[in-house]
Amino acid sequence: MRSLEQLAAEVDGLGGKRVLVRSDLNVPLAEEDGVRRITDDGRIRASLPTWQALLDQGARVVVCAHLGRPKGEPEEKYSLAPVAERVRELLPGTTVRFATDLVGESARAQGDALGDGELLLLENLRFEKGETSKDDDERGRLARDLADGASAYVGDGFGAVHRKHASVYDVPRHLPSAAGGLVLAEVEVLRRLTTDPARPYVVVLGGSKVSDKLGVIEALLGAADKILVGGGMVFTFLAAQGHDVGSSLLERDQLDRVRGYLATAAERGVQIVLPTDVVAATAFSADADHAVVAADAIPADRMGLDIGPESSAAFASALADAGTVFWNGPMGVFEMEPYAGGTRAVAEAIAGSDAFSVVGGGDSAAAVRALGLSEEDFGHISTGGGASLEYLQGDVLPGLQALED
Ligand code: 3PG
Repeated sequence: MRSLEQLAAEVDGLGGKRVLVRSDLNVPLAEEDGVRRITDDGRIRASLPTWQALLDQGARVVVCAHLGRPKGEPEEKYSLAPVAERVRELLPGTTVRFATDLVGESARAQGDALGDGELLLLENLRFEKGETSKDDDERGRLARDLADGASAYVGDGFGAVHRKHASVYDVPRHLPSAAGGLVLAEVEVLRRLTTDPARPYVVVLGGSKVSDKLGVIEALLGAADKILVGGGMVFTFLAAQGHDVGSSLLERDQLDRVRGYLATAAERGVQIVLPTDVVAATAFSADADHAVVAADAIPADRMGLDIGPESSAAFASALADAGTVFWNGPMGVFEMEPYAGGTRAVAEAIAGSDAFSVVGGGDSAAAVRALGLSEEDFGHISTGGGASLEYLQGDVLPGLQALED
């Protein structure tokens, strides 16, 4: 993939030129008194260096990005307006414009007014059907509209490179293109995980559903030394071992597959570490009655919402001698204090280890920041959840493929 320097050389300098940048600004928002507030701006901050590098060269930077999953038409709750506000705060001294549409009148007017070293954020890409369309022509039309008036394209939305979307996959076919620094850094780190990782290679997997992680589990069974499983997905593992899991999240249709994973792991000598205790509650609520129970004796009327303290200690000790760690997915419902202990214990163990550690996934990255841990204590905090999993499972990622063509 070409770098910004190579792109600048190819187009004879980027100063004064309009450069379209695809970033991933899909940040979590919470609504309070009718005002939407960004609860974790990690993806915005991770996008800044590429924009800054272009602004410093006097480029006219046009940023496009998505937020949430609107269905091809404008919806106020998915507007990028709060993101534009945050970008203004993070880039003091830079003129930051915002277009209230993607390729319409506002985008044209703001684009015409854009000066050298200024930045324009376009409204949510997914307000246009063409962005996510499965129809090549429909995507192609939007891609041409986005590319119109630009001299170059920079793909820097790592979190979206696994999507065959107009702004990710089709636009680079119309313009001289390069990968931004964020995409290059993310790919370099993930390559390190797939090419001769320092051993033991310990993976921590959590999150709600095992069905979201099938491909990556299969790939990791051929790469990792230990896989520690927590989060909602662990109850399908416990049930596959024959335990009752009460009213915990359970994917019955995945039981046979998970039994297969346990058998494959045993054959290959990959250690799968499951919790021996869990925090089980009477309801999915911070106020619900909750208690630590044995993982093989969850009462019928309770649901597991976190791994228990004995398991947290066991997971921490399994991480202690790791050479490489990959962590994806929280161990419990960390947003509710009674169920945050497992995620906190794992995060602290990884932060304290000497291993090369990669945190992949919006939720785990947000957990690191929400729990007040220092990002510096982790080797790399990826901005891409689905994208990093698809990379690790060996898939061709459309957004990377397009930048390589
Ligand atoms: C993410 O949040 O992982 C990326 O922004 C991609 O979003 P998507 O899953 O809605 O395509």
